[in-house]
Amino acid sequence: MRKNTLHLKAPGNWLNDPNGFIYYKGKYHLFYQHFPYAPVWGTMHWGHAVSEDLVHWEHQDIALFPTKEYDKNGVFSGSALEKEGRLFLYYSAVRYLETDREDIHRAVKDRYETSQAMLISEDGLHFDNWGAKRQILPVSRDEALAHRTHTRDPKVWREGECYYMALGSTFLEKEGRVLFYRSLDGERWEYASQCRDERLGRIVECPDVFRLGDRDVFLASLMYVGRAQEGYEHLSVCGLAEFDRKTCELTLPGELRLVDYGKDLYAPQTALDEDGRRVMIGWMRMPGAVEGEEKPWNGMMCLPRVVEEKDGHIFFRVHPQADRAFSEKCQESRLLPGDAPCRIRTTLGEGESLDIGGFLIRMEEGCVRTDRSRVFRGFSGAALDCAAPKSPGRCSLDIFVDPNLIEVFINDGEYVISNVVYGLGNHIAGNINEICTENKK
Ligand code: FRU
Repeated sequence: MRKNTLHLKAPGNWLNDPNGFIYYKGKYHLFYQHFPYAPVWGTMHWGHAVSEDLVHWEHQDIALFPTKEYDKNGVFSGSALEKEGRLFLYYSAVRYLETDREDIHRAVKDRYETSQAMLISEDGLHFDNWGAKRQILPVSRDEALAHRTHTRDPKVWREGECYYMALGSTFLEKEGRVLFYRSLDGERWEYASQCRDERLGRIVECPDVFRLGDRDVFLASLMYVGRAQEGYEHLSVCGLAEFDRKTCELTLPGELRLVDYGKDLYAPQTALDEDGRRVMIGWMRMPGAVEGEEKPWNGMMCLPRVVEEKDGHIFFRVHPQADRAFSEKCQESRLLPGDAPCRIRTTLGEGESLDIGGFLIRMEEGCVRTDRSRVFRGFSGAALDCAAPKSPGRCSLDIFVDPNLIEVFINDGEYVISNVVYGLGNHIAGNINEICTENKK
């Protein structure tokens, strides 16, 4: 089986959203949206990888794939939970109403319908795609309740005796909304409530609601909130939330801000790690495939990030295990960017800059900015320049460099800018006070 260290990458061909992220029977399982035939989006399967430490990933066989009339055109995103030792996987089941005759992996003009389904696995390693699937929520025929096409990505969790499900949806493809269902057994679901908010774009994807200390946090991926000229139209946001466990009413009292200011990150999902930390993993969108050792691949995950809240601000910090492993790997290899992972810790003041193999980071008017124009190989359709919000004073930067991804953690995760790159050079230069600790050793 193929292995990845630190960043999970498509094992060839295509990967998008993380799915069913869970710590189960002593191992992390990370499933993901996968098209196994070409490095492009197509009929969705759930790829599967397993890790003991969130660092060393071992790819497994494809876990979920279409077998039923209701999911014949795709096993879309979803989540996992453990119940009485078994692994419950929840997903959106897609059935096309009109298939593109020249590409059967696509529907014509979004003519498809979506229901919600689940598969129960006894051990997290065997998935009976014929016998263990069940449709749990039918296609909606009532727009007041849910949209027939764009209702998807069940995020399921348990609190006390109750199971909750959040679903991304839309009202008439004009207004994003999040639907909530409730269950006493994780199998039979009842509609409870829905949240509409004008800041939710036109369609909500991959909602996630979770408790952090005594606060609730909301993560979601919103369609048509960004400007195409500035990168992507669909962006992932986070915000503090109030979620009433009795009524399932969700309110978003504070601002919604980007999970990652690089804007490549999309469809993040969280789970609890073995120590009870809330860990987030997100898909890094890539405009073109990378030539792999065996096959071209497109799509990778960001480093696992611990979500924390302090004084009303949501932080995304590198998971301690990834933090440790990244440094060790850099020390072992003594490599520079372009070759293998490398890590740079430094601080940046107004007017100062840093050049990592052609990837530029600078501080201007109080904002950390990145510029990947020299290491993006002429791809279009993604932002070349990115900026984090203002942070007063000097910023500390913790920069994780992978040949195809640079993740810049500003002030220990106050803000993060992650950028996909291609063709990174192998030099480091700049007006910095502490050069590349790991590489110097
Ligand atoms: C988000 C998304 C989900 C959907 C999946 C399909 O990237 O569009 O809403 O379930 O990808 O691959």
